[in-house]
Amino acid sequence: MMLPAVKWDRDRLVMIDQRKLPDEEVYVECREYNQVAEAIEKMVIRGAPAIGVAAAYGAALGLLRMKSDTGLEKEFSRILKRLEKTRPTARNLFWALERMKRTFDESRGLAFPELQRRLIKEAEAIEREDVEINRKIGFWGKSLLKDGDSVLTHCNTGDLATAGYGTALGVIRSAFQEGKRIHVYVDETRPLLQGARLTCWELDREKIPVTLITDSMAGHLMKKGEVSAVLTGADRIARNGDTANKIGTYTLAVLAKEHNLPFYIAAPTSTIDPGLSEGEQIPIEERSAEEVREFAGRCVTLPHVGVENPAFDVTPAGYISGIITEKGISRPPYAKSLERLLNKYKK
Ligand code: MRU
Repeated sequence: MMLPAVKWDRDRLVMIDQRKLPDEEVYVECREYNQVAEAIEKMVIRGAPAIGVAAAYGAALGLLRMKSDTGLEKEFSRILKRLEKTRPTARNLFWALERMKRTFDESRGLAFPELQRRLIKEAEAIEREDVEINRKIGFWGKSLLKDGDSVLTHCNTGDLATAGYGTALGVIRSAFQEGKRIHVYVDETRPLLQGARLTCWELDREKIPVTLITDSMAGHLMKKGEVSAVLTGADRIARNGDTANKIGTYTLAVLAKEHNLPFYIAAPTSTIDPGLSEGEQIPIEERSAEEVREFAGRCVTLPHVGVENPAFDVTPAGYISGIITEKGISRPPYAKSLERLLNKYKK
């Protein structure tokens, strides 16, 4: 029962509006690349792999709307720049756009209509491969969960955050489908409530037992022995294993260590940034103050009170028990194991 976050339909990109879930199932249509860029910025679509797929289609859409190939190089570079500017933290967005740029460069000898088709095909390949990758992450990761486990997760890492199947949720789904009795604690994930709105909705559709908690309840539950493991996704992983993910993930990792619980990350290798040696170098998106000041559209504080709203934090590698990828599970020390993993099956 996979739910596509994005769907290419002949000459347009259709997305489920994640801001409205679970109350309403509304679809947004993008016919121009700029609409795709805005959808990513406004979080109609979100989640690192999903925004990578959307951006890839956005690049293809930009070329598809061109009437002729006059000024092609310049226009394509403008399209890529616009899409790159949407959200700074998730590596997958840049990875997907780099792949589209490579395809563009390699196809320059083709007639323009053929080049346009080639780019759509590449975006479709990125989408298709993401589902296969997530199934493999699920395959490797399920061995880490035992029958009867209560797993704590944060934000949303399921169908909606990927092209399908999910990363951390894919691992949970895999273990559950194998017959293990898995229960999931879901952090509500303030301020945008991806956990409460999206993860609970996805798990409920799959009939996987779920309990919603507020972000500040995790320590209490761990102390009571109610949590077996913490499992989250990632937006960017540095070469040394330091990992950026939704704000609040670092707190969970510290709590997990204090309570001797394993803390796992599940992510495709496209989330690993080979250009960054450590997490300090990861750009962290700062979002609007309104997201924090308001709750369900209502201001819940004094409107002039100062606000900080970093959308992500970085968990140092030392807190991470394992990084589950499509190529296997990486263990500390990550500088070595991630490099080995990245070079595995390299063409
Ligand atoms: O701000 P969001 O909702 O895009 O943040 C998403 C996350 O932090 C996810 O955990 C991460 O992108 C992995 S999704 C498979």
